Amino acid sequence: MDAFRIVGGHPLRGTVRISGSKNAALPILFSSLLGGEFTLANVPCLRDIRTTLSLLRQLGIHTERHDPQDGSSHTPATPEDWNGIFTLSDRDTPDYEAPYDLVRTMRASVLCLGPLLARKRRARVSLPGGCLIGARPIDMHLRAFEKMGARITIHHGYIDAETDGLRGTEIALPYPTVTGTENILMAAVLARGTTTISNAAEEPEVTDLARFLTARGARIEGAGTSTIRIEGVAELHTADYATMFDRIEAGTFLVAAALLGDRVTIEGIDPTPLRPILDVLRAMGAEPHIEDSSMTMGVIPHPVGTTVRTLPHPGFPTDMQAQILPLMAIAHGSSSVIETVFENRFTHVMEMNRMGAAIEIHGSQAMVRGESRLEGATVMASDLRASAGLVLAGLVAEGETEIKRVYHIDRGYEAIEKKLESLGARIKRVQEDQP
Ligand code: UD1
Repeated sequence: MDAFRIVGGHPLRGTVRISGSKNAALPILFSSLLGGEFTLANVPCLRDIRTTLSLLRQLGIHTERHDPQDGSSHTPATPEDWNGIFTLSDRDTPDYEAPYDLVRTMRASVLCLGPLLARKRRARVSLPGGCLIGARPIDMHLRAFEKMGARITIHHGYIDAETDGLRGTEIALPYPTVTGTENILMAAVLARGTTTISNAAEEPEVTDLARFLTARGARIEGAGTSTIRIEGVAELHTADYATMFDRIEAGTFLVAAALLGDRVTIEGIDPTPLRPILDVLRAMGAEPHIEDSSMTMGVIPHPVGTTVRTLPHPGFPTDMQAQILPLMAIAHGSSSVIETVFENRFTHVMEMNRMGAAIEIHGSQAMVRGESRLEGATVMASDLRASAGLVLAGLVAEGETEIKRVYHIDRGYEAIEKKLESLGARIKRVQEDQP
């Protein structure tokens, strides 16, 4: 297994291009199951994207990667030979089953349910299990599909769903679930009549999916607000689209800049969706210089502690919680993080404490004492964002840190070690236990 070895304390300087968003690309790729053809650019080279493409191929989607050199297409192997442009087309096969071996590695596979029901009127999807950060049920997705006219049963770990044709209805979500909103949105696009989703997720990735579907002829109003109205259409037409930037990757590099930046510029971004992250960084002393599609930031010379509550957008994203902790650990004064989205998302705290942080967990709250001097240690990554938090802790710690099980980070960050290295960080990918 791969590990990262980091020698901390080296200043970061230069420009880094932010990749396309995983969480925006996934639902857009799954929407290929709604039929027709489209071309999507700015698709990041990530393990979750490869899993999605394999699952889609199994469900009868033809996936073609564009190679500007020779026009050929093949499955890409590394970030170097991946240019992020794919054409997906539906071959209209009768496949409708998402098997356990693919779904278990990626919970977002449940995003095939809505489009399969809408287009094939049938879906059989392995029930995603729990994961380290919480139980993460999908009951809200299923209740919504039932309300739209699906019959759903669960047997032997599989969700079996079928319908004589989905119809528009009013769906009031008990919580603004992100993939739930996306799943319902995709189903509603081809449903008969009008669907209204209230208490919808307002995440920028939901808006990106809606913008893409609208480019394909869907009729959607209100994406980005808490009420989305979708008028069903008979079919979607073809379109070219580019995935939005990854705001969590951007936020991770901004924290790296706040910890060690001589002068770090992130480019390929839109500052608006970054606002909740910038508000917290500013409260801790950051002074970002913002342009239309880039942002430059340096180290915060005397970071001050703050309180953060993770919330659905436009609140502070839970996906940035692990990354803000190392900054809080070295800040003057105490800080606290209240995690309201997932019930068990502090697995990284024990590892950060082994590096010298002083963080106590009280239920859903992490109390950070501050003014700690972090020291390198051997630590274990437990999930995607926790790994990013440990990388940041390793960058600012004194001495050498080894982070084991970095396969988690490869699910959601495109070549993070190469990007950090290009800014001057001492980080390399090694085989675990390699001397
Ligand atoms: C998405 C993101 C993930 C992010 C999360 C919150 C993708 C692929 N993943 O995950 O990176 O951390 O949003 O911003 O976009 N819940 C239920 N029943 C449901 C659905 C959700 O109880 O039917 C609960 C979950 O257990 C969790 C909360 O609602 O406690 C939020 O989950 P949700 O917004 O659905 O997260 P995901 O869409 O899985």
